[in-house]
Amino acid sequence: MNSLEEIAQLVYRCTNCDLHLGRTNAVPGEGSPNAKVMFIGEGPGVQEDRQGRPFVGPAGQFLDELLASIGMNRGQVYIANMVNCRPPQNRDPLPAEIGACGAYLDRQIELLDPSLIVTLGRFSLGRFFPGESISRARGRVREKDGRRIYPIMHPAAALYRREMRDSIMEDFRRIPEILAQGRQQNPEAEISQEEQTPPPEQLSLF
Ligand code: URA
Repeated sequence: MNSLEEIAQLVYRCTNCDLHLGRTNAVPGEGSPNAKVMFIGEGPGVQEDRQGRPFVGPAGQFLDELLASIGMNRGQVYIANMVNCRPPQNRDPLPAEIGACGAYLDRQIELLDPSLIVTLGRFSLGRFFPGESISRARGRVREKDGRRIYPIMHPAAALYRREMRDSIMEDFRRIPEILAQGRQQNPEAEISQEEQTPPPEQLSLF
C-alpha cells in the first residue's frame, strides 16, 4: 500500500471481515495527504455507510463545528476510523473487526506521518493505550511509539450531554497550541500556508 488513495481503493473492495456483508459502502479515511493532524474515530454510522464518507452524520456535523472553532476545516486534516464498514445497528466494533482493519490504519498513519493524532472516543484510545478509560486519558498529549497522541471524547458522546460538550470543546481548543509546540520541538519543520490557522470562528451550534 503506497498511497492513501491506494488504501481507499483496497478498503472499497475489502472482504477481510463479515462487516463487508452488511455494508452499503465502505468508508475509507479522507482528507489532506499533507495533514498535520489525523483524527481517528470508531466506525461508520448509517449516514457514513450511505455516503461512503467518514463523519457526515450528526457527529460529523459537530466535528465540523469543532474544527471551525479552531479555524480549521476538513481539507486541512485527515479523518480515519478504527473500522471502515458499519457495524450492524451501530453496535461496538468487535476486536476481530478492528484487527481486520488494522493494517489499513497502520499504513495510513505511516504514510501521513502526522504531527498529532487525535483519538476520538474509547476505541481509538484503546489502539494506543489499551485498557485506559477515556475520562482519565482525555485532554493530555502523550507519546506512543514516537507519535504524539491526544485522546479526546467522541463527538457523538458529546452531542447531547452538556458537560461532555464543554469538555470536548475545551480539549479541541488546545489543538492549535499543541501543534505549535510540535513545531518548536522541530524548528526546521516547514510551516505551510495551509497550516496557518485563521482566527477561530464562533461555534454556531450552541
Ligand atoms: N462515528 C465515527 O466514529 N466515525 C464515523 O465515521 C462516523 C461516526
